[in-house]
Amino acid sequence: MNAIETEKLGKEHRTGFWRKRVCALSQLDLTVAEGEVFGYLGPNGAGKTTTLKLLMGLLRPTSGDARLLGRPLGDVRAKQQIGFLPEQPSFYDYLTGRELLDFFGQLVGLDRSLRRERVERLARQLRIESALELQIRKYSKGMLQRLGLAQALLNDPRLVLLDEPMSGLDPLGRREVRDLLLRLKSEGRTVFFSSHIIPDVEVVCDRVGILVGGRLVAQGPLDEILLARIASIEVTASQVPPEIMGELDHLLVTRPVSRGEQLLLTVRDEGALAELVARLVEAKAAIHAILPHRESLEEYFLRHVEPREV
Ligand SMILES: Nc1ncnc2c1ncn2[C@@H]1O[C@H](COP(=O)(O)OP(=O)(O)OP(=O)(O)O)[C@@H](O)[C@H]1O
Ligand SMILES: [Mg+2]
Repeated sequence: MNAIETEKLGKEHRTGFWRKRVCALSQLDLTVAEGEVFGYLGPNGAGKTTTLKLLMGLLRPTSGDARLLGRPLGDVRAKQQIGFLPEQPSFYDYLTGRELLDFFGQLVGLDRSLRRERVERLARQLRIESALELQIRKYSKGMLQRLGLAQALLNDPRLVLLDEPMSGLDPLGRREVRDLLLRLKSEGRTVFFSSHIIPDVEVVCDRVGILVGGRLVAQGPLDEILLARIASIEVTASQVPPEIMGELDHLLVTRPVSRGEQLLLTVRDEGALAELVARLVEAKAAIHAILPHRESLEEYFLRHVEPREV
């Protein structure tokens, strides 16, 4: 069974005096299999939070439909098995961390001993044990984020939806959250989380979806998505006779760069590479390295981002 299935899911907002339409999400077709960790990537304003809010029933779609754990949106039985971390969790900040988690535990119907056990375990895993008795208004940003994660996992969810779980965390905290996601996966849970930071997703995700301007522009394993797009190929050579440089010109995408004895030649694709190598071999130049340059996710975003009216 798929944990998440959306079909042409879309959301338009109406804003301002003229009720101008803003399309936050357009025709989203997405499937996330059960047990998968799925990274939902996109630059600011791409529509990630909108998607998560739609899935959680916090916003009503203007088009399309979705199913979570095989059930329609808003289904109470499905909701009991879903954990959610909102983008900017805000809590009753006069409570202590323990009081808040205990309160959430009551909301999801856990009895007292189970609440105590889960709160202790999650606080330990998320390293907020020492902050449990502290009022939430005294929490740092990272501590709040960890508390939010503990809250999202309190009902032992089968499906976890997290909106930027690594935001506000220091490098160690990011790694801890990555490890946490991997542990959730090893326990057979499904994790769907949004982010705009590549290293956060590439280590833990089975698959990613890339959202730009409300549209899903790619979906699949990250390395496949990026591998499919070789931006350029760099050839390092030496002893290139100066008289053949003129003939190579039309193959190169940038001017040759000399590094000591060596010359760096950049071509756009494999066709040009084959021709360049043939010429170099013919001229008895030495070839030291051939290095394809994968497009980075940033470059990928930039290529897909259309200027949008704000
Ligand atoms: N209530 C609203 N009314 C009007 N426009 C909205 C509303 N909520 C969101 N939008 C617009 O929808 C688009 C998508 O916003 P969303 O918050 O989903 O992006 P995001 O991918 O989560 O971005 P970020 O990485 O900054 O969190 C943006 O252009 C935003 O301005
Ligand atoms: Mg967001």
